[in-house]
Amino acid sequence: MNAIAEPATPVQAVTTQDGLLSLRIRQIRYEAQGINSYELSCPHGGELPAFEAGAHIDVHIQPGLIRQYSLCNPPHERHRYVIAVLRDANGRGGSRALHDALHVQQIITISPPRNHFQLDPKARRSILLAGGIGITPIKAMAHFLESQGQPFELHYCTRNTDTAAFGTDMAAWQAQGQLHLHLDNGNPEQGLNLKDLLAQAPEGTHVYYCGPAGFMLACSQASAHWPTGSVHCEHFKAPEPAADTHSLPAGAFIAQIASTGQRIDVAPEQTLSDALNQAGVPIATSCVSGLCGTCRVNYLQGEVDHQDYILSPDEQAHCLTACVSRARSGVLVLDL
Ligand code: FES
Repeated sequence: MNAIAEPATPVQAVTTQDGLLSLRIRQIRYEAQGINSYELSCPHGGELPAFEAGAHIDVHIQPGLIRQYSLCNPPHERHRYVIAVLRDANGRGGSRALHDALHVQQIITISPPRNHFQLDPKARRSILLAGGIGITPIKAMAHFLESQGQPFELHYCTRNTDTAAFGTDMAAWQAQGQLHLHLDNGNPEQGLNLKDLLAQAPEGTHVYYCGPAGFMLACSQASAHWPTGSVHCEHFKAPEPAADTHSLPAGAFIAQIASTGQRIDVAPEQTLSDALNQAGVPIATSCVSGLCGTCRVNYLQGEVDHQDYILSPDEQAHCLTACVSRARSGVLVLDL
């Protein structure tokens, strides 16, 4: 009998000059109403860069159209990345373009995985909360916790069985009592009672949540009394600015480059990243919403109005996201 020999050296993903990956869409699968999953792999086989639960990739859908999607397959898998995308008819157009333009066999460009939504290794137990398409990073977390034999309970809130994705992948968790499906038929009052679920904050338990704006707000309010550091979330869409943000002076300021002394005017209607790029100081951007961290820059002096959704308070003490952060002081000295 002939055996198929393993290649001596694993084939690596095809990388471009920018460090991006060119992968083949190997499978597109209907997961639920409006939701497709996309399986990406190396065109010639081989291993992809490793990823952690909670990680996302940038998908270059079309020239100038880049969107972030969480990886939802088990993180120990090295032969594929799987994302799932809800076609949002009222969104900014990325999910529509992706659903309409991508097809099996196509080669697409993505970034290597990045993670701003890590599991805390100190957690003794995890409560995972997913609203709608927010199930994607949460599912990867559940896979990881299961592989490590760590206890978790997953609450998946969605409208009805037609909109519930990954039924097959998650059936075993449901049978074992680890997955609780909450169907509200469009009325949140019929769904999961987050206040009751999170009323107690047992020592060593961590909460992770991801979902649409209303779900995020409800989770945030229900977990407000939990200890610092035990609650983790990821927004997949930047929330509307709080009302008082509108009243902040959106004045001009000066960005000073520490290494050269160059001073760059940032106009009230201009982002810091745009001003820097226009002045010849290249700053890479991706989400331009304060969500992905591509445009992180260290700063040395000045008071920052951060407006991002990823940096921890410790990181914000020395780092900002140039796509959304502004200065409250007249001058901001950047460590560039
Ligand atoms: S480009 Fe994503 S945080 Fe700035």
